Amino acid sequence: MYTHTMIIGGTGMLRSASLELATRSRRLTSVARTRRSLSTLDRDWPAGAGAHDILSLDWTMPGLFLEGIKHHVARTGGPDLVVAWMHEDALTLRIAARLAEDSPIPHFFHIIGSAKVNPLKIADSLRMSAEATNLHHYHQIVLGGHGSGRRVRWLTDWEISRGVLQAVERQKSMYVVGTLERWTGAPIDACDYQVRRGYR
Ligand SMILES: NC(=O)c1ccc[n+]([C@@H]2O[C@H](COP(=O)([O-])OP(=O)(O)OC[C@H]3O[C@@H](n4cnc5c(N)ncnc54)[C@H](OP(=O)(O)O)[C@@H]3O)[C@@H](O)[C@H]2O)c1
Repeated sequence: MYTHTMIIGGTGMLRSASLELATRSRRLTSVARTRRSLSTLDRDWPAGAGAHDILSLDWTMPGLFLEGIKHHVARTGGPDLVVAWMHEDALTLRIAARLAEDSPIPHFFHIIGSAKVNPLKIADSLRMSAEATNLHHYHQIVLGGHGSGRRVRWLTDWEISRGVLQAVERQKSMYVVGTLERWTGAPIDACDYQVRRGYR
């Protein structure tokens, strides 16, 4: 059971992961841009789940975004689990660093998409930055596709949410959801990739 889980960008494709983690957390903070998406998630909050705090913040205003999170954490206490799905990778690392200033975060999961650029390249570069700033407990979840050859398709929201939950449970440095065949030319799964790259 987590004391305080924080999910950034968890009201869309990660919705079912948010609702599941709610049942495994005493408190869960959802951070998203609009009150509308946050309220919709709150409406479906499972009975018996932990308290739900909603934070409406826009990451296109990084200063205000970071301050909003910092202010919230000063009131509630730091999270012991963070899952971040943002379209701003550099800002994600800044949040991880800022949260770690006050209290160590046991686990920070950074979700990396695979829309245009090989996500493994992005992941490697982000990992180097995280190591340079001594970010401990930094995990990456890389979103791949489903299927192989010409039949590769995007993962569904449910597949992504389920993969994210598995990644949180397994606590690997890097976890690939689905396949990265489009980028690697061969089927590859999380364990395989970890072995090849020497990740734990
Ligand atoms: N396989 C892959 O690699 C991959 C990668 C990317 C996307 N996809 C697919 O594409 C679909 C759409 O993905 P998506 O990321 O656009 O949507 P999404 O995950 O469904 O929603 C984005 C989340 O981020 C929040 N958000 C967006 N802009 C924000 C901002 N400026 N400040 C703070 N929070 C913000 C949203 O809150 P609000 O709704 O309140 O704005 C929401 O919680 C997904 O359903 C998925 O299937 C797949």
